[in-house]
Amino acid sequence: MAQTVTILGLESSCDDTAAAVVRQTGQDAVRILSSIVYGQTELHGPYGGVVPELAARAHAEKLDLCVKQALETASLSLGDIDAVAVTAGPGLIGGVLSGVMCAKGLCAATGLPLIGINHLAGHALTPRLTDGIAFPYLMLLVSGGHCQVLIANGPDDFIRLGGTIDDAPGEAFDKTARLLGLPQPGGPSVEDTASGGDPDRFAFPRPLLDRPDCNLSFSGLKTALLRLRDRIVAEKGGLTRQDRADLCAGFQQAVADVLAEKTARALRIYMQDAPLQPTVAVAGGVAANRTIRTALQSVCDAAGARFLAPPLALCTDNAAMIAHAGIERFRSGDHDDMQLSARPRWPLDRTSPSLLGGGKKGAKA
Ligand code: KG4
Ligand code: ZN
Repeated sequence: MAQTVTILGLESSCDDTAAAVVRQTGQDAVRILSSIVYGQTELHGPYGGVVPELAARAHAEKLDLCVKQALETASLSLGDIDAVAVTAGPGLIGGVLSGVMCAKGLCAATGLPLIGINHLAGHALTPRLTDGIAFPYLMLLVSGGHCQVLIANGPDDFIRLGGTIDDAPGEAFDKTARLLGLPQPGGPSVEDTASGGDPDRFAFPRPLLDRPDCNLSFSGLKTALLRLRDRIVAEKGGLTRQDRADLCAGFQQAVADVLAEKTARALRIYMQDAPLQPTVAVAGGVAANRTIRTALQSVCDAAGARFLAPPLALCTDNAAMIAHAGIERFRSGDHDDMQLSARPRWPLDRTSPSLLGGGKKGAKA
């Protein structure tokens, strides 16, 4: 009879506390039996960014409740679980530690195997959870804390073709919103404001397009926006609604153009080795942006590649992706022991240089 594997996953690497139960029977599609997420947006709102100490404390308070709700929603008890998978990095050290300690406690009490998961692998494997796609595929991870373009060759085999050298794109959207007095999170409010704007009124740079590689940069866009804003304010004494719309539209178009061009380059590199039925998948909160999605879809159409964007709830941080990555490791017979440690700067591919320094949302990757 086909083996059924049921995994409890925990996620607490940034500002979402999450627990989920996923199950797979044989080679059937993986089913999400429950996925509970407690966001911390309101907790950090007054500070303009995630406060690591507050985040860690909130994770520690909420994790037990999340696990209880994930099991109840799945109508299961710990006795029905085969292993506990937990994000062991990268992320904010306090949050990652909260999750790892909670998972160790559960495993110590039940004797269940413990599986440490790289948070980025959780995101990068999500298209296999949502659409059951086979390896290899090209993956673009774009969120408030991440920006990488990767070739996914296997559950533990990723090649990073490029990444941000400064801010993550979501971070740039959030800072743009702050500079224009728009609400957080910045991505949705900048996108809404941009809908009435002219993307060509202001000249925004297209950072790093003059370099042939797949690396990206977003901090210059934010500085360009700051200068343009200050110039308008100096000339006219303030910003009109149309000024804001045009600034947002110009900024958003620049981000979309840069992501599209660097993805096109990555796709060309990828297709040299794997030209048949190429798939490009995105994950991360920024993948919600319609202008960016449309730009990526066009890149894929032009190259004859399939474009996959998982549902938003699975693009953003969640524990179902961690539990699913746990299934992939568990099936290969692999797990950790009580020595598992939190790794705040855990790189996804073994050959890449270490990740960038800490940002408002923790260590960037
Ligand atoms: O993946 P996510 O929920 O959390 C992490 O950053 O880990 O992504 C959140 C980020 C925020 O920076 C938010 O501003 C951005 O995704 N975002 C968007 C949009 N929706 C969310 N950026 C651009 N356009 C959007 N519609
Ligand atoms: Zn994430």
